[in-house]
Amino acid sequence: MQLTVNGVTREVEVPEEMPLLWVLRDVLGLTGTKYGCGIAQCGACTVHLNGQAVRSCQVRAAELEGADVVTIEGLGTPEAPHPVQAAWIEAQVAQCGYCQSGQIMQAADLLALNPDPTDDQIDAAMGGNLCRCGTYPRIRAAIRDAAGRMRGA
Ligand code: FES
Ligand code: FES
Repeated sequence: MQLTVNGVTREVEVPEEMPLLWVLRDVLGLTGTKYGCGIAQCGACTVHLNGQAVRSCQVRAAELEGADVVTIEGLGTPEAPHPVQAAWIEAQVAQCGYCQSGQIMQAADLLALNPDPTDDQIDAAMGGNLCRCGTYPRIRAAIRDAAGRMRGA
């Protein structure tokens, strides 16, 4: 199976039922994407698949032929972080950090669809991404900051 991950074409031989999360972490060594629940309930495993945020624990390898996947490792770089990453650093959002790559990927998806979300729209888009450390107020503030950065405000 051939797919593109963070702009690089990758060839992988995996069982059809293997979740994308396992392909990323165990086969490709991209461990920034986290396993939380495995049943689509926490958002820790969120990545972008063909331009949309998805729960990678729920995507079967059989669905990935020709797919374009972006993970937290490919969203930005230390030298040129994505505006969401820059805002996250500025706000020091993370506590333990475990949920944060999923939160950032979900937030980037939200802002790609809606460059100026209201608090209600932020809560609706982010509500499925759980954070046991309770960083939700900082997540919301960072998304507002990132939205401003992306609009050039
Ligand atoms: S690990 Fe995929 S949603 Fe929790
Ligand atoms: S920062 Fe610890 S779970 Fe979210």
